[in-house]
Amino acid sequence: MVKWAPTSIPEMYTFLASVLLMGMDCLLILLRCLHFANNTTEMFNDPLKKIRKVFSALTSSFRRNFLPYRDLCLDESLMKWKGRLAFRQFIPSKRNRSGVKFFVLCDVLTGYVQDMIIYSGSTTDIQHYQGLGISGSVVMTLLAPYLSKGHVLYVDNWYSSPTLFQHLLSLGTGACGTVRPNRKEMPTFTKKKTKREADFRENGSQLAVKWHDKRDVHVLTTVHPTGMAATGKIDHITGQQKMKPVCVLEYNRKNGAVDKADMMTGFLECTRKSTKWYKKVLSPA
Ligand SMILES: *[C@@H]1O[C@H](CO)[C@@H](O)[C@H](O)[C@H]1NC(C)=O
Ligand SMILES: *[C@@H]1O[C@H](CO)[C@@H](O)[C@H](O)[C@H]1NC(C)=O
Repeated sequence: MVKWAPTSIPEMYTFLASVLLMGMDCLLILLRCLHFANNTTEMFNDPLKKIRKVFSALTSSFRRNFLPYRDLCLDESLMKWKGRLAFRQFIPSKRNRSGVKFFVLCDVLTGYVQDMIIYSGSTTDIQHYQGLGISGSVVMTLLAPYLSKGHVLYVDNWYSSPTLFQHLLSLGTGACGTVRPNRKEMPTFTKKKTKREADFRENGSQLAVKWHDKRDVHVLTTVHPTGMAATGKIDHITGQQKMKPVCVLEYNRKNGAVDKADMMTGFLECTRKSTKWYKKVLSPA
């Protein structure tokens, strides 16, 4: 989705300068020889050795330069890559594309990428937290600098669980996300399936809701009240505003931040082709 806007004289100068530079041999040679590691000192069994230093410098500068607002969101992002790579991943929900998978922590309001971890199989750079599994450990690792500060995390059902959310709550951090109904310690819901009806279960610290619209959705939250809110859409049969549980509405609004960041890199992706995966990770533009 390209938004058209008038260009400006400085922008056109920058454009022309880039076109001229592109034609210079030295730029092409530099691009071809672009390399981010010292081959003689890199750890030979580190799958990320080609970019380890630069990638950590980048992410720590991301963390240093921006203090996030209240809401954070964590999701996977995929850099398309069809070439050879030991830890190439497929994400079925993202049209089963293959590539390098990132766990990305974003600020919801701005879409700013706060931190990232590259998925590299069993050597993925995460702290393991007892009892929280891989997904919970990814959350705790990325969220470590932001705990006990009143943030609220939005995540999808790969991460959400009553155990993780309770742990976060004990560390002064709220959470909200879609959740698998068969997670340990989830309450049971009635089977009835009346359209646009919500079934709320709460225990004083967590609220779980089963919402049936086009299909069943389960959402778990430690920050939203029981109750419904107007969606802003009119039901053509009753003439009334359509309603949704507050937490479902908020989740839908807030969980898209990583996709927003994705859209921006997606836009840049088309401009460069590279033969090395690590060149692409570090120089998408
Ligand atoms: C996704 O890609 C993998 C690897 O090529 C394949 O095994 C799997 O069947 C694909 N899944 C779908 C839903 O296309
Ligand atoms: C609510 O449920 C969670 C998850 O099962 C549990 O850890 C927590 O202690 C419960 N809170 C109360 C007040 O019962």
